[in-house]
Amino acid sequence: MGKTLLVTGGAGFIGSNFIRLVIEQRDDWHVINLDALTYSGNLENLADIDLNSRYEFARGDINNSELLDTLMPRCDAVVHFAAESHVDRSIMDSTPFVQTNVVGTQKLLDAARRNDVQRFVHVSTDEVYGELPLDDPEAKFTEQTPIAPNSPYSASKAASDLLVRAYHETFGMDTLITRCSNNFGPYQFPEKVIPLFVSNLLEDKQVPLYGDGLNVRDWIHVVDHCEAVLTVLEKGSAGEVYNIGGNNERTNLELTHSILKIMGKDESMIKHVTDRLGHDRRYAIDATKMRQQLGWEPTRSAWPNALEQTVQWYVDHTEWWQRVKSGAYAEYYDKMYGNR
Ligand code: NAD
Ligand code: DAU
Repeated sequence: MGKTLLVTGGAGFIGSNFIRLVIEQRDDWHVINLDALTYSGNLENLADIDLNSRYEFARGDINNSELLDTLMPRCDAVVHFAAESHVDRSIMDSTPFVQTNVVGTQKLLDAARRNDVQRFVHVSTDEVYGELPLDDPEAKFTEQTPIAPNSPYSASKAASDLLVRAYHETFGMDTLITRCSNNFGPYQFPEKVIPLFVSNLLEDKQVPLYGDGLNVRDWIHVVDHCEAVLTVLEKGSAGEVYNIGGNNERTNLELTHSILKIMGKDESMIKHVTDRLGHDRRYAIDATKMRQQLGWEPTRSAWPNALEQTVQWYVDHTEWWQRVKSGAYAEYYDKMYGNR
C-alpha cells in the first residue's frame, strides 16, 4: 500500500526536486508539501505537478504545532527539508536560523511523536562537520567525524541534528539523519554560487569570487541527493546517520573557470571580493556507508556534462530566475555585494 509523506520545505530547491521524484517514481504515494514560502520558497518550482491528485500543498510554518497536528495524523513519514539554508544570510542575522532550523525541528519532532508518525528523515548537511584542511586531500568527512560547525547556519543545523538524535535515544523514535555536500541543478535559488554566477553572466554582470577562490566544495547533482534521501527513507536503519556526496571536489576558482568556459566568457568577468567570514576551506564526503549498506551511488553528478546541463537549464529558464532575482532579492544583493 502507498505511503503518505509530509515533506517540509518542498517549495525550495531540493524539496521540490524530491517531491517531483517521489510523484514520478512511487505511483501510489501521496505527498503533502508543508512550506511557509519564505524568500526561497517558490511554488513555480512545482508547477508541473501542481494538479496531480497525489500532491497537496499546505502553506504554513513548521513552528505552528496546531497546523502540524492537523496534517500529521494522515502521514506515515516526515521528510524534513525546511530550513534557512544560506551561510551568508546567517552571518548577517542568525535569528531566523535558530527559529526555523532548531526550534522548528523540535516542534516537528514533538508533533511526529504525538501523532505516532512511523519514520522521520532529517535532511542535514556536511557543514556540521566543520572544515577539512587543503593540505590533506585524502581526508574526508565520515559519519564518525566529530561535529564542529563554524557558521551560524551550520551550528543551527548541528543543533537540529542533535535534537533528532536525542529523540531517537530518549523516546525510541525512528529517526534518520542525512548529511549531504553541495547540491547543484535546476530550481536553485540564485543566491547560491552556481545559479548566481550563471545568471550574473547572462545579465553581463561580473561574478563575485570570495577570497583567493581556493576553497573546495564536493558537488552533487540535486537528483542524486534526492534519490539518496528516498533510499534512506525506504532502507535506512533507525537512529543512523548517512553521509551523501558526489565524489566531485572542485575549488571555487576551478568552478568559476568552468562556468566561464561553458558560457563563452573570459577572466575579466571575475570580481575578486572580500572573503566570507569564517569561510570553511574544504568539504569532502566519504559516502562508503551509503554505497555498502544501502547500495546507493551518484549517477548524475559527473562533470563537465552535469555542469553543462545545469548551466543550460538556467539559460532555458531565464524568466524563472529573473522573477526570483527581482523584488526583495535585489535588496539583499545590494546589501551583500554593494560595497564589497
Ligand atoms: P532552500 O532555501 O532552497 O529551501 C528551503 C525551503 O524551506 C523554502 O521553500 C522555504 O520556504 C522553506 N522554509 C523555510 N523556513 C520555513 C519554515 N519555518 N516553515 C516551513 N517552511 C520553511 O533550501 P535547499 O537548498 O533546498 O535546502 C533544503 C535542505 O537541505 C535544508 O535543510 C539544507 O540545510 C539542506 N542541505 C542543502 C544543501 C545545498 O547544497 N543546498 C546541501 C545539503 C543539505
Ligand atoms: O555543503 C552543503 C551546503 O552547501 C548546504 O548545507 C548549504 O545550504 C548550501 O548553501 C551550501 O553552502 P555553501 O556555503 O558551500 O554554498 P554557496 O553556494 O553559498 O557557496 C559555495 C562556495 O562559493 C563557497 O566556498 C563560497 C563561494 N562563493 C559563494 C557566493 C554566494 C563565492 O565565492 N561567491 C559568492 O558570491
